[in-house]
Amino acid sequence: MNASVAPSWHPELETRHAALIERLERLIPCMEVPLHLPWIDAINVLKKERGAVIMAHSYQSPEIFHGVADITGDSLALAQAAARCDSDLIVLCGVHFMAESAKILAPHKTVLIPDLEAGCSLAASITADDVRELRRQHPGMPVVSYVNTSAAVKAESDACCTSANAVQVVEAIAAEFGVDKVIFLPDRYLGAWVAQQTGIELVLWNGVCEVHEKFTAMEARHTRERFDAKIVAHPECSPEVLAEADFVGSTSAMGKWLAKEKPTRVAMITECSMADNLRNQFPQVEFIKPCNLCPHMKRITLPNIHACLRDLNNEISVPEDVAARARKALDRMLAVGRGEKL
Ligand code: 13P
Ligand code: SF4
Repeated sequence: MNASVAPSWHPELETRHAALIERLERLIPCMEVPLHLPWIDAINVLKKERGAVIMAHSYQSPEIFHGVADITGDSLALAQAAARCDSDLIVLCGVHFMAESAKILAPHKTVLIPDLEAGCSLAASITADDVRELRRQHPGMPVVSYVNTSAAVKAESDACCTSANAVQVVEAIAAEFGVDKVIFLPDRYLGAWVAQQTGIELVLWNGVCEVHEKFTAMEARHTRERFDAKIVAHPECSPEVLAEADFVGSTSAMGKWLAKEKPTRVAMITECSMADNLRNQFPQVEFIKPCNLCPHMKRITLPNIHACLRDLNNEISVPEDVAARARKALDRMLAVGRGEKL
């Protein structure tokens, strides 16, 4: 079957997927559900035949997140899940650096990504040569790189971090190296927020997330004042937006905050699908939805997931010498998460 030829609708799908239909109808336009269902059904059959596990990031569209994913979460959770999952075949529905992290931590598994072009403006903003040049300019200063980077950049770094653990990793690395200055790359907004939280001076790179950069302080203020909504923002937003927020945190921290605070109304200042995917978990919360889609995350679709599972193509590979050094930086991050001394 060609990727462009959709599996056809049949009435049996309605009984087989009654609970999923109900859930999706709450999250996406009802009329779209019958378009997705044949793909969801076909992917789930193929997934079983292949013995594959599908992992999906929280920014994936609801029909992927709820319809076909076995494991969902932030970039950290997906990388950890890859390392410990039973299956030898992983289809990662997210962007390229996430699939690379999974491959680095699970080197003996086959990791596929439905679209190899699913990139990230942060990962594209810096190269391994840039990191080597930063080290030359700042001798003795350790390098912490956000996981939103290529494997080659990770390989030049002392430790990686995600937005969920950036503060702890920077503090641990500064203590390990006995320094009060750290190179932090590539997100200058996340870096500025981490510097504020830790009091550690950070040398920053000029990278930004093209999605979070679009939000403005005026929008956040307007939403709070007009709709009496709590503002929850991702630290990839500008400092002006973060100054308007009731809570700043990573995608996983946002969910935890909602569970604890149970706000009546909230605006999630982050990629659009995040609110859709949380809405199912928090039916009592009203979500005011700003919509900034990540064009890279949205390259992943049900048809290309199906094609990838069918043809077993788009395999991620990382040269072993690069992977070995990148793994050290990722392992340091995971050690901080386990509360170990570096
Ligand atoms: P997380 O690390 O929170 O999953 O975020 C990744 C990302 O791409 C944010 O824009
Ligand atoms: Fe990269 Fe931003 Fe998309 Fe996340 S939302 S993958 S940081 S471009």
